[in-house]
Amino acid sequence: MKTIIAPSILSCDFSKVGEEIRRIDLCGADWIHIDVMDGHFVPNITFGAPVMKFFRSYSEKFYDVHLMISDPLFYVKDFAAAGADGITFHVECESDIDKTIDEIKKCGKKCALSLKPGTPAEAVFPYLDRLYMVLVMTVEPGFGGQKFMADMMPKIEKIKAEIDRRGLDVIIQVDGGINKDTAVTVKKAGASSLVAGSAVFGADDPAAAIEELRNA
Ligand code: DX5
Ligand code: ZN
Repeated sequence: MKTIIAPSILSCDFSKVGEEIRRIDLCGADWIHIDVMDGHFVPNITFGAPVMKFFRSYSEKFYDVHLMISDPLFYVKDFAAAGADGITFHVECESDIDKTIDEIKKCGKKCALSLKPGTPAEAVFPYLDRLYMVLVMTVEPGFGGQKFMADMMPKIEKIKAEIDRRGLDVIIQVDGGINKDTAVTVKKAGASSLVAGSAVFGADDPAAAIEELRNA
């Protein structure tokens, strides 16, 4: 399976975010990963849908929106209207999980669930057949540039085994501390979509960095 590389714009220069999205698209990004933080679910604040809607015109690629917010259900329609293609929310959030999945699908968007490092694999099992992707966090969500948690690999393997056992078409994404070395580790465990912030935007040659992640 071809690896999907999703650069996280959290590490871009936000004074020219549109140009940064266009640049990373031209550098070969498969998806554009957009981190939304509310200062409540995680100890950091980024932006909401009223800001995100201005990003849309800079790339035709898949907008992979990662909601690190306490009440995703309340905001699904806004992010769908702002140009999300896929919406990922956290299984640890305060919204009703089933209703949030329904709402995302009702908006015609792809739905994924994410797990923080402390959450066991089994937490997403009841929802697997309604998802296109599971995002296994390999750092505590909230900030870019943190150290990769290699001890998340058994969780990826467990989710992958359950997906295969049930014959489902669900991919596994990883987010946090991904670089050309850790990419090898996560792919071996079963991940096929890789989010990378600092490893791409911090590289002298982002196109080469994306290619390196893809071929790791
Ligand atoms: C962290 C975000 C990530 C972050 C990854 O909470 O979800 O997407 O941007 O950054 P790096 O790749 O630098 O760890
Ligand atoms: Zn993210």
